[in-house]
Amino acid sequence: MSEEKEALTIPLPVPKDASYIYPLSSTLQASLPTLFRTEIIHPALIIPAKQTAELRRVLSHVLMRRPKIKDVYGLSTEEQEKHKGQYRKLVLKLCLKGNTIDSSTYQAEESDVYTDPILSKLLSTTTSSSMMKSTHTITLTYEHYTVEETLSKLLPPTINEIPSAFEIIGHVAHLNLRPDVLPYKYIIGQVILDKNKPRISIVVNKIGNIENEFRTFPMEIIASTSTTTTTTTQNKNNNNNKEKSNRPRLEVQLKEEGSTFKLDFEHVYWNSRLQFEHKRLVRLIANDDGSSRRQDTKEMEMMRRTKRHPQYKHAQQCLEHKKKTDTTTTTITTTTTTTPKQIVVADVMAGVGPFAIPLTSQYNNVTVHANDLNPTSFHYLKLNSQINHCNNNNNILDNNNKGDDDDEQQCLKMYNMDGRAFVRYLEEKQIVYHHVIMNLPANAIEFLDVFRGWKPPLPLPSEKKEEGMYPMIHVHCFASKEEEVGKSEALARIETALQCKLDTSTEDNEVYVHIVRDVSPKKNMLCVSFRLPKEVSLLKKINLDDDDDGSNSKEDDRKEASKESKENENNVQKKREHVNQEVDDTTTEPAVKKCRTDE
Ligand SMILES: C[S@@+](CC[C@H](N)C(=O)[O-])C[C@H]1O[C@@H](n2cnc3c(N)ncnc32)[C@H](O)[C@@H]1O
Repeated sequence: MSEEKEALTIPLPVPKDASYIYPLSSTLQASLPTLFRTEIIHPALIIPAKQTAELRRVLSHVLMRRPKIKDVYGLSTEEQEKHKGQYRKLVLKLCLKGNTIDSSTYQAEESDVYTDPILSKLLSTTTSSSMMKSTHTITLTYEHYTVEETLSKLLPPTINEIPSAFEIIGHVAHLNLRPDVLPYKYIIGQVILDKNKPRISIVVNKIGNIENEFRTFPMEIIASTSTTTTTTTQNKNNNNNKEKSNRPRLEVQLKEEGSTFKLDFEHVYWNSRLQFEHKRLVRLIANDDGSSRRQDTKEMEMMRRTKRHPQYKHAQQCLEHKKKTDTTTTTITTTTTTTPKQIVVADVMAGVGPFAIPLTSQYNNVTVHANDLNPTSFHYLKLNSQINHCNNNNNILDNNNKGDDDDEQQCLKMYNMDGRAFVRYLEEKQIVYHHVIMNLPANAIEFLDVFRGWKPPLPLPSEKKEEGMYPMIHVHCFASKEEEVGKSEALARIETALQCKLDTSTEDNEVYVHIVRDVSPKKNMLCVSFRLPKEVSLLKKINLDDDDDGSNSKEDDRKEASKESKENENNVQKKREHVNQEVDDTTTEPAVKKCRTDE
């Protein structure tokens, strides 16, 4: 049995030399459509016109499926002469198992598609005058082939695995081509572009691994619909430079779970495969039972538009009336009398905001302090905050890249600092937060050392509590695939960074491990959620000073702090009982975690 590929071989020069790079010359590009022109005789079924819709539904599994080509046709003049009345022709698959055929003996009339149980039953129970076997000649051109079919005809037969998988980020298709297909990268890019127009207008290929702290990777453009544009490029420090370049822009706009994101795919981190993790954590933190959701987007948009309109008041009255009468809706508005509990979040490595933006644009009761080290991410975080109306007054913070925490109105406060410095800054400013998100799986756990010596902001006298609030921390990491091994690895790393033990013996201790996704055959991405142990407050703080100030390096300081904490273990041990006593008296706090004594 040979494949259909053989039957339809096109006269393209197949390079003998494997290192030959297909030049995507304008001649080749122009000839692609005609190179693929071919005719195939498909099995078909003549049916009464009025039964077309129903039979297309019943026989959908045996109908021919090709991009941009119909499966129903009228009869030819000759056929009409034979079949008086209103008839149509349904085009069927070449054969039951895919489109594999033997070109030398293939006869459409004898295709095994007719052996399909449903089709054969229909044929045997219907009178021959109202349904009969037939054939139909389909003229295929370049546009009717899928990416995989096209590339399997264009690439040399030595290529076993056709590279047809890619990720879509806005209007960009992102590929990670294997070395053996790199010589054909331009033709691969062009085919993907042609087959996915207009949704995709740029195809990029990853040309190196993530090696920088901003978690971006080098990429090259291998196909694009636009030829030249003026674009913003970035220098070594990731700062924007307005430069003229022939490179098309890699700034994309996309939607994730009801929020809109703009980002420069080349210079900020974005991973569409994290969408479920973004959604999970957002809902977990916002304590989502639907009650604290903002108005639905249409209503919000209407409100926004009508605010500028003289009839705003009337529209507002209509909305109020709608809300009163619409008892089925679960969404509540800002005018709701029972305000849900205010939740404050510190997003330490926020990127362009996939946690922070939905938390502040879709919920009434959440405030987020969002930070990222990458100036370009910070730029897009601010832009996304505007696009999604996170701060109703649309005031964007630009004072020294630090959030204006005096502005009570703003529920999304944005910062451009190192993660450790950010945690220290919030502490110095006595900012209360209930959750911390740390999504930098490669090394976020190590950043937890900044919580050594951390003290919660003092509660207000009105809160009638003796001590402040210890937040839930949600830290992402990579760990072994083997579930139990992976969990213990992650917990051990957390305990080392915190210099405190996490008590996982009961559920009350609030330590949860969630498998986020499969990263590689040996690695999973995890999210460990745990309540920051009170004992951290008893430890010595690490030194965050710069390395180049003539004093010890940061790493040395951390080691020193860690050594000292070990020396303090006895003191900690003594104090623990006292803290335990305090916690037992506090109903809102979890049982205290034990300090590590074995390190
Ligand atoms: C894996 S990305 C996650 C971004 C975002 N949370 C998301 O889910 O898409 C990690 C982010 O950490 C930022 N980052 C790296 N080092 C940092 C540091 N020292 N302090 C703060 N942010 C940092 C990077 O710029 C990047 O945006």
